[in-house]
Amino acid sequence: MASSLGFEFLTKKPYSPPSWASHLHPLPSHFFSLAHLPTPIHRWNLPNLPTNTELWIKLSGNKVRKLEFLMADAIAQGADSIITIGGIQSNHCRATAVAAKYLNLDCFLILRTSDLLVDQDPGLTGNLLVERMVGAHVHLISKQEYAKIGSVTLTNVLKEKLIKEGRRPYVIPVGGSNSLGTWGYIEAVREIEQQIQKGTGNVKFDDIVVACGSGGTIAGLSLGSSLSALKARVHAFSVCDDPDYFHNFAQGLLDGLKAGVSSRDIVHIQNAKGLGYAMNTSEELNFVKEVAATTGVVLDPVYSGKAAYAMLKDMSENPKKWERRKILFIHTGGLLGLYDKVDQLASFVGNWQRMDVNESVPRQDGIGKMF
Ligand SMILES: Cc1ncc(COP(=O)(O)O)c(C=O)c1O
Repeated sequence: MASSLGFEFLTKKPYSPPSWASHLHPLPSHFFSLAHLPTPIHRWNLPNLPTNTELWIKLSGNKVRKLEFLMADAIAQGADSIITIGGIQSNHCRATAVAAKYLNLDCFLILRTSDLLVDQDPGLTGNLLVERMVGAHVHLISKQEYAKIGSVTLTNVLKEKLIKEGRRPYVIPVGGSNSLGTWGYIEAVREIEQQIQKGTGNVKFDDIVVACGSGGTIAGLSLGSSLSALKARVHAFSVCDDPDYFHNFAQGLLDGLKAGVSSRDIVHIQNAKGLGYAMNTSEELNFVKEVAATTGVVLDPVYSGKAAYAMLKDMSENPKKWERRKILFIHTGGLLGLYDKVDQLASFVGNWQRMDVNESVPRQDGIGKMF
């Protein structure tokens, strides 16, 4: 992997940051962070909010928060490769593939696709382009096989195979959601508190709203919020399984941390699945487009788009619940997922036209030969 391009640092093990990185991070040289934190918090002026409701948005950097902990563990355990698993447009798999390459680890992805497409080249749309550019090993599995075998066994099968080949793989579960990954969002609450303290100090959030896909984000946020001075109510909008499933799953993560709290006491989960995971109605996509057009915030269609859509629906159906509250919506990223929806989005996006220019307009030099 070392090359004449100046990437020799990539062969150093155990990992140490490239020399240029130590100038960027005021951290001890053995510590190198994947995430760029803190991420900003802005006022979010969505129209039609209930009376005196204040809405804010935190642009999150979701998966990488969990990967900070999971990758550190992989390196501490002497792994030479990472295995993880998810849907064909999994943001977690893409983030893991990039982080693995950054840390000079090989990455093996098991990606779930439709039974019809499982034997075909998966293409280069959205997350797949990035995964394939960084050289992740992509293994496709059909939805039917995935449902029958389950993600734990699938990753174990690949793990056994790699071990037999002399490799030292480290397995990260779906969405990076285990008790260790949960620390990423416990830390995010500390980050929010520090931002409040550093800011004007008069924004004390009453509620945190976030999408829920595999459960780690809500477990971390709700535990962090309940243990900290923040004490904001966490509202999760689930985009795949139902609230009961996620309460039970989050409980497992909380128990793994010996948190001694009940998921049902610290997080409120509502269903925002709609047509199904990664499937959108045209109302949802039109909403994503309208939010972008009115506020400049681009939501992803699979997670934050569905969560924001369901939050506004709940606000219009139950305005009293949200009136006079200061709400922090966590945008969990995943914008590459938009590229998977271009055909569906095409009818909503703005129009274009050829520029109308009179040929007799005299040329004036700009910058460079072309301009
Ligand atoms: C963009 C994005 N937002 C939110 C989530 C949900 O987070 P979690 O899996 O921790 O529930 C995910 C992953 O599932 C995601 O990729």
